[in-house]
Amino acid sequence: MPHYVSRGSIPGKRHTVHRQNGQHTYEELVSRAGFSDIYSNLYHLRMPTSLRAIGPVESMPLEALEDVTHRPRHLLSARFEAGGNVLSGRRVLGFNKECTLAVCEPTESADWFYRNGQADELVFVHYGTGTLETMFGDLNFHPGDYVVIPRGVTHRWRFTKDRVKLLVIESTGPIETPKHYRNSYGQLLEHAPYCERDIRLPDGREPISETGSFPVKIKMGQKLQPCELTHHPFDLVGWDGCYYPWIFNIGNFMPAVGKVHLPPPVHLTFTAPGFVICSFVPRLFDWHEQAIPIPYAHSNVDSDEVLYYVEGNFMSRKGIESESITLHPAGYPHGPQPGLLDKSLGSTETRELAVMFDTFAPLTPAAACAVVDDPLYPASWLEEES
Ligand SMILES: [Fe+2]
Repeated sequence: MPHYVSRGSIPGKRHTVHRQNGQHTYEELVSRAGFSDIYSNLYHLRMPTSLRAIGPVESMPLEALEDVTHRPRHLLSARFEAGGNVLSGRRVLGFNKECTLAVCEPTESADWFYRNGQADELVFVHYGTGTLETMFGDLNFHPGDYVVIPRGVTHRWRFTKDRVKLLVIESTGPIETPKHYRNSYGQLLEHAPYCERDIRLPDGREPISETGSFPVKIKMGQKLQPCELTHHPFDLVGWDGCYYPWIFNIGNFMPAVGKVHLPPPVHLTFTAPGFVICSFVPRLFDWHEQAIPIPYAHSNVDSDEVLYYVEGNFMSRKGIESESITLHPAGYPHGPQPGLLDKSLGSTETRELAVMFDTFAPLTPAAACAVVDDPLYPASWLEEES
């Protein structure tokens, strides 16, 4: 998020002496594109570089589905067994060179800190409340939140006892507000479906001045590298800049509606190199007297479309339940099943809530798809024989 934020105690000038209780603080510059894009300056009580130990690397391989049949898929993700922590509990469903899609229903908390070293993470919270503790401060989260955690941010998820269900996307590029929603200064434009007031930022937090052994797991693609710091990683006395984790709740997405059906780009929420995220939220339907509220069949000839169904009756699909995921790959048109067009006529509003994830490179279905696959889905467009 490229708007400037300042928290805690920082010096008047960058790269100058800054003391806390008479002791030096240690500046860390966190920047994208090698000092040439957005950045933040962080002021630590202790040197952020002081590693106590580096442990043996762990493997987190991405496994492709054995069945390479190219077809539409309906994945009933609610059928996965809950378990693991926020990392080990991830069930990867698809991947390509730019992104990875997983669901996660963790039941264990982690006793280590986590940092993704190679990917930004977008976590959609379907169920669950708690606090995302980060080096920048805490962010409270609740259902409907899109939690954006740029790479390099040391953090720890703390859940309350309620059920947790997360949709997790890892991205090799930054996850951003769409460029055409912003003016040349980076401010969200008047016609954007959300604005800066909807973005939640980390609270300021007192630095934690503890020394000892503090384990951190660093994810580097398909590897997990454990290490230990000599001090608590949340030892910042202050920071400022444009690089930090943030949250946007899907309930704050203001939908655009038209006299006739408007296409999915009006639901665009975030962009990243290689994919987009759209939010389908409750809204009024089109008001032309002959309008067909339900979408027409469409061929997105250069993208794969993933939809995660949150709640409400999704008007354009049959047999879908909450937590269902559909994958409509390039090569096939897709659209509503028989009977839904007639049913939609005269409808004035929809209560559907869904997250769409469209990738530009083909998404390889992952091995875990086999566990929750609905094999009858490709035949769901057949007219019933009379
Ligand atoms: Fe579609």
